[in-house]
Amino acid sequence: MKKILITGALGQIGSELTVHLRKLYGVENVVATGRRIPKGSSVVEDGIYELVDVEQANEIASAVKKHKIDTIIHLAAMLSATGEKDPVKAWNVNMGGLFNVLEVAREMKCAVFTPSSIAAFGPNSQKVKTPQDDIQRPTTMYGVTKVSGELLCDYYHKRFGVDTRGVRYPGLISYETLPGGGTTDYAVHIYYEALKNKKYNSFIAEGTYMDMMYMPDALEAVVKLMEADPSKLKHRNAFNITAMSFAPEHIAAEIKKHIPEFEMSYDVDPVRQAIAESWPDSLDDSAAREEWGWDPKYDLASMTADMLAKLREKLNIK
Ligand code: NAD
Ligand code: SER
Repeated sequence: MKKILITGALGQIGSELTVHLRKLYGVENVVATGRRIPKGSSVVEDGIYELVDVEQANEIASAVKKHKIDTIIHLAAMLSATGEKDPVKAWNVNMGGLFNVLEVAREMKCAVFTPSSIAAFGPNSQKVKTPQDDIQRPTTMYGVTKVSGELLCDYYHKRFGVDTRGVRYPGLISYETLPGGGTTDYAVHIYYEALKNKKYNSFIAEGTYMDMMYMPDALEAVVKLMEADPSKLKHRNAFNITAMSFAPEHIAAEIKKHIPEFEMSYDVDPVRQAIAESWPDSLDDSAAREEWGWDPKYDLASMTADMLAKLREKLNIK
């Protein structure tokens, strides 16, 4: 990666990945893009920023051409819960956007990183330690776009030689930007509520396991995979990666170690609960470990300590 363009750069991942890549590759070599120009955003104000709607192929193409881009990190998407509210829009943004990015990459000879998700699996996938290669029959529009996206990226590599790569992220936990409407969002909101109100009402039920990861590990995955020796990559576009698997009561118990008064209650949202139950409890990430050295640093205890410390500072809570 020498000249990088990031789509959806104002989102949960993009807002941190932009800053991370600017540090590693130089401010002048990372072009962040999004659909709006928010005030006070470091993504917009501390480097190069362009307006790009990924549903408009010409907007992607002109930014890639203008900045002589060699790598596109494609993050613009609609997530699982918002996708279920408007499945047509989710299809158009997720599939239309990816198709446009791949076409521009084919024409302008760029590499492409696209995240897939645990949502690419469904109720008849193996539930625990879901293997790298397993049945994929997801029941959400988000999941349908993620499986289709994995296939489309494989196709562009095989048919046109585009250097496409990607991971299946689990739920991502971070303190910089709030998540954009997913099923795993409870595992971020709980930290804010624990600090502000010392209680949290979870929309996901007790006993519901999902894979999760702290943002620093998610950022490292992009760099490690994109810098990996391509001859070692057998599963280029859909590497299972994970850092931890837990249910709501486990994160609550970990928070209680830092905030003993913290109380958890449940008001389960049937839509997001059904989505969560259709996903794996945990993934087998051995292919990523073997093929490009995936090795996450944070577990539930170390993530919780860091999240609470960073959020205390951000929210100015003693
Ligand atoms: P997000 O919702 O926080 O950010 C996505 C960004 O894309 C938003 O800023 C949104 O405004 C923008 N966007 C939407 N439509 C657009 C369009 N037409 N043109 C340009 N921008 C548009 O999402 P995120 O969490 O940063 O996720 C990024 C990618 O990672 C997505 O593909 C998502 O499926 C994947 N992923 C995320 C998680 C997670 O827990 N955050 C887990 C698995 C996979
Ligand atoms: N965090 C994402 C979601 O819940 C998983 O892809 O939608």
